Amino acid sequence: MNRSSIRLVICLFIILVVSNSCKQNNNPQTTTSVQNAEWWKEAIVYQIYPRSFKDSDGDGVGDLKGIIEKLDYIKSLGVTAVWLNPIYSSPNADNGYDVSDYRGIMEEFGTMDDFDALLAGLHERDIKLVLDIVVNHSSDEHEWFKQSRSSRDNPYRDYYHWWPAEKGEPPYRYSLFDPKGDAWQYDSLTNAYYLHYFAKQQPDLNWSNPKVRQEVYDILRFWADKGVDGFRLDAFQFAAKDTTYPEFPDGFEKDFIQYYAMQDGLHDYLKEMNQEVFSKYDVMSVAEGAGRNFDDAHKLVDRDRKELNMAYAFEGVDIPKYEGYELATMKEVFSKWDKEFNKDGWLSIFLANHDQARMVSRWGNDSEAYRSASAKLLNTFILSMRGTPYCYYGDELGMTNIDFDTITQYQDIAAINGYQKALSEGEDMDLFMKKLNFGSRDNGRTPMQWDNSENAGFTLGTPWLPVNPNYIDINVQKENSNPGSVLNHFRELTTLRKQNPVLVYGSYELFAPEHPSIYAYTRTLGDKTLLTLLNFSKESSDISLEVGWAKSPIIINNYNDLQIIDDSIKMKPFQAVILNIN
Ligand code: GLC
Repeated sequence: MNRSSIRLVICLFIILVVSNSCKQNNNPQTTTSVQNAEWWKEAIVYQIYPRSFKDSDGDGVGDLKGIIEKLDYIKSLGVTAVWLNPIYSSPNADNGYDVSDYRGIMEEFGTMDDFDALLAGLHERDIKLVLDIVVNHSSDEHEWFKQSRSSRDNPYRDYYHWWPAEKGEPPYRYSLFDPKGDAWQYDSLTNAYYLHYFAKQQPDLNWSNPKVRQEVYDILRFWADKGVDGFRLDAFQFAAKDTTYPEFPDGFEKDFIQYYAMQDGLHDYLKEMNQEVFSKYDVMSVAEGAGRNFDDAHKLVDRDRKELNMAYAFEGVDIPKYEGYELATMKEVFSKWDKEFNKDGWLSIFLANHDQARMVSRWGNDSEAYRSASAKLLNTFILSMRGTPYCYYGDELGMTNIDFDTITQYQDIAAINGYQKALSEGEDMDLFMKKLNFGSRDNGRTPMQWDNSENAGFTLGTPWLPVNPNYIDINVQKENSNPGSVLNHFRELTTLRKQNPVLVYGSYELFAPEHPSIYAYTRTLGDKTLLTLLNFSKESSDISLEVGWAKSPIIINNYNDLQIIDDSIKMKPFQAVILNIN
């Protein structure tokens, strides 16, 4: 070949590469030709609790401008979508989960201009935005509720659930957040009780009223028209109520999901919502909760149902208890959910969120010796499972639980009211406080740890919730400059997931199910199979593999080496590797 034909070949090659990459860029939807591929299946979601992420104005509360300041950081994580906890106007009885105006921005968080700038900033960086929609209930300060409680014949009366006092006491309903556990609140203004499954400041909306439904669809359209890319439906599995109010058996509250979730009408409402809103936009939808059983979950998310795209099933995330947990249970639960949804439907994969304590403290080991390895292991799990992965802010650093020892340090309404309830019921308060210390939601809400300056660089004021004192060692600035940090490992994982459709769409199979400390599974798509090995233990542990597997290329490892002995691997404490086994 002479020089000019070599040049021609090179030019043709460049044109081919460029045109292929343009083709990919022209199709922002998905990266593969897998059947039923969807962008929301390929998404890597980063959950931001806005109150705790970054404060831009020194009032001690995170805000939208603070998130804007950190957009390049968010981009650097390799995530492709952000889910924001509620940002709407709210008196904050439950940190924004009590909305007083669904089209307004919470004052502490900023303005609608800030929101628009945030959305534009995310989109410029090819990151989607998912909003939290809290419509099982509103705030008691919402105009609808103010009207509703003002008189029995107010046009908004039926926006909520009322029980007239002349009928006697309403049948007992359990409230998750009430200090007395009672979900009916007496209101002397109209001599009636209203229903609130959560705190009394969060009256439940009456979804059987078509006007309520239309109001909500309008709200969803308002945000979708702005360009929002998805919605998380908060507590929506409880939205339909059996308004004949049957008596439930004594002790039902221990298993309240069986009584509250998926009541008649719920799927009709979701189908209607889908028809009226979701089907008209390219938005994703995800339900908090997957119902009482697999059948409920399938009805929510199966493709032909035309309701929602995916659901967070809680059986997995609920496993770790103060007393500890068994790896066997984790394997069993995650495997059975995967199996159940390997043909139809889609799930979220998560080990933490704003309602849980910190992932590494619950599932891993937050001691100095193992925090980093175990946080990397847990991130490896989330990013190598089937389902859309959700990473909770700070878990990319391996942030840990905070150590509160008196109830006055807690801010969460669930902790404070739960404490009063336990006290009035004569519970062992020592044990109660230990459990709270381990599992409280405030653990997962301490401010983001940006650097080692005062208050971890979160605020120049007084943070609304104390910063974890370990911010000196665990912070973005420090982890950025350490190639072996949890943060940089997280970035490697997101890159890997985006490069390997097998991690998104590949089938999952548990390997060595009986192994007591190693969680091993394969992911297979076409002729590609990856093997994930996770040693969930602070002891070293051996695992024998199929012939030849141990010598396969390592595509990620949270240690610098891997000890191979013939066809076995000796894994170090909390070692996590992925091998490309063919
Ligand atoms: C959901 C939210 C939680 C909130 C509750 C009431 O479970 O995730 O934070 O307290 O609903 O809205």
